[in-house]
Amino acid sequence: MPTPAAAPASVLDKPLIHFGRRVLDRVAPGAPEAAYRLLDVSPLTPHIGAEIRGVDLARPIGEDLAEELRQALLEWKVIFFRGQHDFGPDHHLALAAVWGEPEANPFFPKAETPGVSRLAKDAQAIGTENIWHSDHSFMAAPALGSVLRAVEVPPAGGDTMWADMASAYDNLSEEMKSRIEGLAAEHDWVPTWGSFMTAEQIAELRKTLPAVQHPVVVRHPQTGRKVLYVNEPFTTRIVGLPDAESRELLHELALQARIPEFQVRFRWQPDSVAIWDNIAVQHYAINDYYPQRRVMERIAIAGVPLS
Ligand SMILES: [Fe+2]
Repeated sequence: MPTPAAAPASVLDKPLIHFGRRVLDRVAPGAPEAAYRLLDVSPLTPHIGAEIRGVDLARPIGEDLAEELRQALLEWKVIFFRGQHDFGPDHHLALAAVWGEPEANPFFPKAETPGVSRLAKDAQAIGTENIWHSDHSFMAAPALGSVLRAVEVPPAGGDTMWADMASAYDNLSEEMKSRIEGLAAEHDWVPTWGSFMTAEQIAELRKTLPAVQHPVVVRHPQTGRKVLYVNEPFTTRIVGLPDAESRELLHELALQARIPEFQVRFRWQPDSVAIWDNIAVQHYAINDYYPQRRVMERIAIAGVPLS
């Protein structure tokens, strides 16, 4: 007869049980307050997610506006714009260029406009992004951000959620912080994207996309904040730990993205645009709209190796 797993000594031993306040810093303690002259910033929560009003993204983006957009993204981690009715692929590319170069996703269908991926979901092509993840974490230099535009949205549902992974780190116990200090984890696309491919296709793509390693806790390249950087679909193991311990630790760490206080949820309308800091947050596309249609266009922005 199998031995039942040992029951937790108390509910407080379960990784997601927590009563009372959380540490929720919008920016690193001591970081200067951002001031905006051109943006009207309307927060959706106190520390993650803000709607930006008063900006027409179909007009040329000057350097002053670009600087405030970069500042707002660092401060809020995900920023939203509504009613961008004249916004097309060229504007999309110009907006992404505020942060960097577009980066193609090797698993998406070939884009009509290079760099702009169209993601159309319906009763045939069912959404599979309903898992907490960071885009392209399986790359040596993961995307620093993504710019997503809603083209067609279901009458209800199809929201996206983002979780602040600096807050997830801040709220780990001191014991857990010291346990993961200095550890690295492997990230790999094969267990997820590879499940839709033949062995030959996997072997071919492996040549250019080997499994990579990133620190379990990375320093955000711009803010320097510590960010918990493991995610459920792409992080496969913690380097140097026995399998069982690696699995248990990864599971506990990846679960942190599910804590509501770290999250913001956005209800899309046609011509809404969202930009997220792909190192600071993870995201989850809620798959509650089947068989309705949902069409989005996305640009991922090339990033830098993490340390
Ligand atoms: Fe994604």
